[in-house]
Amino acid sequence: MWKPNKYFLYEKSVQSPEAHVELVAQIAADLAPGRHLKSLREDFCGTSLISCQWVRSHPAHTALGFDLDPVPLAYGRRHHFSKLSAGERRRVSAVRRDVISVSKPRHDLIVAANFSFYIFKQRALLLKYFKKARASINSGGLFILEMAGGSGMIQTMREWKPVYVTSAGKKRRFTYVWDQLSFDPITHDVKYAIHFHVDGRRMEGAFEYDWRLWTIPEVKDLLLEAGFSDTAVYWETEDENGEGTGEYERRENGDNAVSWIAQVVGIV
Ligand SMILES: C[S@@+](CC[C@H](N)C(=O)[O-])C[C@H]1O[C@@H](n2cnc3c(N)ncnc32)[C@H](O)[C@@H]1O
Repeated sequence: MWKPNKYFLYEKSVQSPEAHVELVAQIAADLAPGRHLKSLREDFCGTSLISCQWVRSHPAHTALGFDLDPVPLAYGRRHHFSKLSAGERRRVSAVRRDVISVSKPRHDLIVAANFSFYIFKQRALLLKYFKKARASINSGGLFILEMAGGSGMIQTMREWKPVYVTSAGKKRRFTYVWDQLSFDPITHDVKYAIHFHVDGRRMEGAFEYDWRLWTIPEVKDLLLEAGFSDTAVYWETEDENGEGTGEYERRENGDNAVSWIAQVVGIV
């Protein structure tokens, strides 16, 4: 029986490190023209997929990941760092840290993907995180926060998606289940979970999230309050069927999409 690790299933279901690194490079070229932003900190890095792709994408790039949980950190070192060349390996590391308490060393870019900062539910906590991040970014650098929202993110619902992968040379299929358990309109607290179905086996609650669904204007205001000089929003464009294209453009106004993803940027 195939018994894949839950981090393997998670990565194959929700992460696209090549596309994410291209997007970071696009935003950096747009907001810091004529400069090459090279050093990246990946907050909430989990298995460090973005860090690994960042150092692969250019020989001058460096990356440092922070995560609280030693288990995904160890998984990333074992399965991803080990596949890098010796030169790439020297330019990446990942350590166990609470992102709210670090302000050193400084980087050109901080990236926080997959809505992970929604873990900070109180305004004062999020402001503290943003201030620490601001202090950790070099002059002219960027803080890129991935956000999601829309009415589709507050409905209680489950969504199933088949995922096809090759594992140890064999073609495999599993089901990824995104479960929206609850939303509180007073606090904006949301509870989400990810389940996997693998060969008739159910991995219920493989990942569970207890978050606050922040809004873009709240986050923009907090970034300015934390000392960023300006903000920018990159909005995912839609195709004719209303599906996300994976392409982003800088926008001042969004569409009232059922579910949307945006990259909100604090500019130092
Ligand atoms: C949604 S996962 C993100 C995984 C991956 N980076 C991605 O983009 O899909 C959130 C991660 O944040 C980590 N985390 C939660 N609170 C944290 C904190 N205060 N400091 C650092 N990491 C934290 C968790 O351990 C978990 O690995």
